[in-house]
Amino acid sequence: MAEHLLAIDDLSDDFTDIISWAIEFKRLWKSGDEIAMNFFPLADMAVGSIYEKPSTRTRVSFEVGINRLGGYPLTLLKNDIQLGKSETVADTANVLSRFLGAITYRCYAHTDVADLASNSSVPVINALSDKHHPCQAAADLMTILEHFDNKNALKVAWVGDGNNVLHDLMLACAMLGIDCMYAVPKGYEPDKEVVKRAKNLASDNNSKIIETNDPVEAVKDANVIYTDVFISMGEEHLVDKIDSFSGFQINMELVSNAAKNWVFMHCLPAHRGDEVTDEVMDHNNSIVFDQAENRMWAQMSILAYLVDNSAWDVMGRVMGLEMK
Ligand code: CP
Ligand code: NVA
Repeated sequence: MAEHLLAIDDLSDDFTDIISWAIEFKRLWKSGDEIAMNFFPLADMAVGSIYEKPSTRTRVSFEVGINRLGGYPLTLLKNDIQLGKSETVADTANVLSRFLGAITYRCYAHTDVADLASNSSVPVINALSDKHHPCQAAADLMTILEHFDNKNALKVAWVGDGNNVLHDLMLACAMLGIDCMYAVPKGYEPDKEVVKRAKNLASDNNSKIIETNDPVEAVKDANVIYTDVFISMGEEHLVDKIDSFSGFQINMELVSNAAKNWVFMHCLPAHRGDEVTDEVMDHNNSIVFDQAENRMWAQMSILAYLVDNSAWDVMGRVMGLEMK
C-alpha cells in the first residue's frame, strides 16, 4: 500500500476501494449510522496542513474531515512558519514528524512535496502542487461514480489548460478504466511523462486517453465536461496566457455537442465568464458543489487508509465492501 499520496496513481490498485469506501461512509454518516459516526482512526492525533497558496475547499474539507475522524487539525500558513525562510523542507519534515500523525502540503514546486515526503516518517498528502492535485481527482472520481451507474460506458471530456488538475483527472480515469479526451490549445499540453503514465494505466484497464486541440471534438458525446481556470496559482504574471484560450470556454453552445446525460464539473474556484458561463455553472446538470463536498469524504477515506490501514480495512468490511 502507499505510504504517501503525491499523485493519484500512488494509490494504484487500492484506488477503487478508497472511492467505494468514501461513497459508502458518506451515505452511512449522513443517515446517522452509529458505527460511521464513531469511527475515530485519528483519535488524539494532530494532523498538520501547510499552505503556501490560498485555499477554501482543501483547507476546510481537511479541517472538518480530520475532526470527524477524531483528529486535531493544525493549519500552518507559509508566512507563519520557518519553512522556506530559515529552514529547509527536509528539516521541517523531520521536526513535524515528531509531533504529527500526518502532514498535508499545498506548495508551488512538486519537488517540495516530494522532498517533504522523503524526509517524513509520517504520511504526507499532496494538497496541490504545480504538477498534481490527487485529492481533487479522488473527489472527482467519487462524484462521477456516485452520479453514473455504468462507468464502463463513460466519456470524460476536459477542455482547458494542460495543468495539475488534468494530470490527476486523466490518471484517475485511466485507473478506473474510464475514457478521457482532453482538448488543450497548442502550447498548453499536459506533461508528457504524466500522459505516458496515464496511457499505460488506460491500456491496462481497457480505456483510452486521447488528446485534441478541438473543444468540440472533446465534448462530442461526452458524459462529463470538466474545466478549470486558464491561469493557475503561481501563473498570475502570465496575463497574456488567456488569449490562447479563445474557443475553450464551456458555454451552452459547446455543451450542445455532449451526450444527453451530460454533467458539468469544475474543481473550483471558477472564474465565471472566462472558462465557464454562469448558465453552465448554475445549470441543473452542474454537479460542482457535490464535487466540492466530496473533497471531504474522499480525503477522510485517504487519511484513514494512510494513517490506520487496518482500521480503514475493517470499516470497509463492516460497510459490506469487498476489500482487496
Ligand atoms: N479545488 C481546490 O483545491 O480548491 P481550493 O483552492 O479552494 O482548496
Ligand atoms: N489549476 C488550479 C487549481 C486550483 C484548485 C491551480 O493550480 O491554481
